[in-house]
Amino acid sequence: MDVKVSSPDYPERDRESVMEDFLKRIECYKVTYQPLDPDNHDKERSFIQVINVGQRFLVNRVQDYIQSKIVYYLMNIHMHKHTIYLCRHGESEHNVQGLIGGDAGLSAHGKEFAVELRDFIVDHQLVDLKVWTSQLKRTIQTAEALGVPYEQWKILNEIDAGICEEMSYDMIKEKYPDEFAMRDQDKYHYRYPGGESYQDLVQRLEPVIMELERQGSVLVISHQAVMRCLLAYFLDVSADDLTYLRCPLHVVLKLTPVAYGCKVDMFDLNVEAVNTHRNRPLANSKQEAVMRRNSFTPMSSQDQVKRPRVFSVGNPPCTPLPPSLSSTDVPEAQETDELAEKQEAPDCWSPGV
Ligand code: F6P
Repeated sequence: MDVKVSSPDYPERDRESVMEDFLKRIECYKVTYQPLDPDNHDKERSFIQVINVGQRFLVNRVQDYIQSKIVYYLMNIHMHKHTIYLCRHGESEHNVQGLIGGDAGLSAHGKEFAVELRDFIVDHQLVDLKVWTSQLKRTIQTAEALGVPYEQWKILNEIDAGICEEMSYDMIKEKYPDEFAMRDQDKYHYRYPGGESYQDLVQRLEPVIMELERQGSVLVISHQAVMRCLLAYFLDVSADDLTYLRCPLHVVLKLTPVAYGCKVDMFDLNVEAVNTHRNRPLANSKQEAVMRRNSFTPMSSQDQVKRPRVFSVGNPPCTPLPPSLSSTDVPEAQETDELAEKQEAPDCWSPGV
C-alpha cells in the first residue's frame, strides 16, 4: 500500500482510489502481458523473476559477475519496516588532539556521550535494538556504556590512513604534500599509501549494508568515513559528495527507509565535542591534476555520473542536503548553531539527491 501510494504515478495520494486504480491496472496488464516461459520460449534468456515480493526467486542463466550481484542484492532487500540508527563513537583522545586514525580511547566528553546515548535508547524505547560496533576501542567503549549486548565487526573499522595514521591534517600536509594534494583532488578514489580509499571502504562495507537491509532495528556505532559511506548508500548520495557528508560527533541519525527514499531524523545529544570535519577545498584551477595509477581499485568504474531516479511527490529531485550534512563550506560557528537548533525538534527531510 505504501509503495503504491507514494508512487510518482499517483500524485493524488488518496489511498482508496490509488489502490482501486492499481488493481485495475493489474487487470489491464494481464490482458497484454505475456508471462515468461522459463522452460521453453525464454529458456535461453537471462532473467530474474521475483515472485510475491521476494518469497521465491527464479534465476535463469545468470552469466556474469554483475548479474549474480544483482541476484544477491534482490535477495537481500526486503519490504518490512526497519529503522537504522547511525552515530560515531564518543569523542576520542585522538579527536581532541586533531589526529586521524589510531586506536585511542574516549575523552571525558566521549564518555559523557556514551551515557547520553544509553539514555537516548531508553527514552526512545528501543527494545530489540541490535548494536554493532567496529573493533576499535572508541566504538567498543561507547557501546559498553549502553549496558546492552553488542556485536563487533572488523569491517566497520575506520578508513585505514596507512602511512598517515595518527597524524594531523597539518602534519600530513607538511610531511607528504603530494599525498595531501592528491587526496584533495579526488578524495573518493585517493588511496593512502599502505592504506585505503573511500572506494575501498565502500567495497569493504558491502556485507554490513546487506545485513542492515535484512535486520529490524540496528544502531551502528562507527566512524566518520564509515558513517559517510553507510549514509550515502541509504540516501543515494554520489561518490564525490559522500566524502564530505557532515557526520559530527555526538549526533545520532535515525534512518527510516520508506517507499522511494529514506526519512532522516537527526538528534544532537548535546555533548560538547571537537569538530573533525575538513571542508572540501576550493577548486584551484592552476593546480595540476596528479593521480597515482594505483590509487584506483582495479575494475572500478570511472563513470561516477549521477543518473536520474524516479522521485515521488513531496520528494523532488535536486533538493540539496541540509547544511548540517552537506559539503558546503559553512563556517564552524554557524554549523554549531544549526546543530543546537536541531536538538529541540528532530529534523525530518527527504534524501532528494
Ligand atoms: O578524524 C577522525 C577520522 O575518523 C579519522 O580517523 C579518519 O581518517 C577521518 O576521520 C576520515 O575523515 P576524512 O576522510 O574527512 O579525512
